[in-house]
Amino acid sequence: SWDYAFLYQYQGFWCASNCFHGILSFQRHFQAKDTDILLVTFPKSGTTWLKALTYTIANRSRYTLENSPLLTTPSHDLVPFTDVHIYADNKSSTLEDLPTPRILAIHLPYASLPHSIINSNCRIVYLCRNPLDQFISYWHFISKVPQAADPVSIDEAFEMFCQGVQMFGPIWDHELGYWKASLEKSNKILFLKYEDLKEDIIYYIKKLADFIGCPFNNEEEAQGVIEEISKFCSFDNMKNLEVNQIGKLSYFGIENKAYFRKGKVGDWTNHLTPSMSKRLDNLMEEKFGDSGLMTFIQS
Ligand code: PPS
Repeated sequence: SWDYAFLYQYQGFWCASNCFHGILSFQRHFQAKDTDILLVTFPKSGTTWLKALTYTIANRSRYTLENSPLLTTPSHDLVPFTDVHIYADNKSSTLEDLPTPRILAIHLPYASLPHSIINSNCRIVYLCRNPLDQFISYWHFISKVPQAADPVSIDEAFEMFCQGVQMFGPIWDHELGYWKASLEKSNKILFLKYEDLKEDIIYYIKKLADFIGCPFNNEEEAQGVIEEISKFCSFDNMKNLEVNQIGKLSYFGIENKAYFRKGKVGDWTNHLTPSMSKRLDNLMEEKFGDSGLMTFIQS
């Protein structure tokens, strides 16, 4: 369970005990290929959306939107988490069967990545989200995970969040680790934020396509392919797909439906008191320091 009650510290981040085996095995054995595209997120930062977008962009010559595998297979199965899913289920051999470029997802912090990721020419797309919205999203999600312990009140959850206690937390260390790495290695790491994608998805689909080496040509642009992809991967469209309805499960036995809640920016204003948000702002100011990440998140 990803419940707050079952988390332990490992290499400076919080981790559920049932994820250790997969994470250790991933760290020891994963071999990145130069062509790999790794989607990295802190949980509840827009992973499901980023997976759908990247998968659709990279495979657009193979599948039309009408016969996209996303219509019948959850994005978490098409773009699996290598750390908490593939290696946890002893399925690493399936990685060899994936078409090139392999699109894989990861939740691990930068400092805990396997060496082959750092040393190869694979590319990393990191999607961050305002920690206030991430917290609210996570808090709702926890109650939908099977075997969750007793429900945690928002006050209790907030207290733990401020202490960094969340799966892969603290969130500030996670975001800061990739932020700093992206400043040093801008060709390798594209650092995006959920709020920017919500604001101008067309611009970011193009940027994502360029970064992963699948740029749109003039003809595609003229035909409106980018707009079509943006609509196909939108919250409303994805949420309403048959595969994301009640009863359809992905890994961990979690309902696909659980990955779609509101899909909005600023839902924290409906849950957090002014003093809670002030406390978090102060905490972020302190943790992000003069890295530039606070400005990036708030701009
Ligand atoms: S996970 O478990 O880490 O993979 O979850 P993740 O996908 O990162 O986060 C879930 C939140 O993302 C919202 N979501 C979307 N937003 C915009 N567009 C699309 N297509 C989309 N799909 C999922 C989802 O609703 C969760 O955010 P909240 O704020 O809880 O609604």
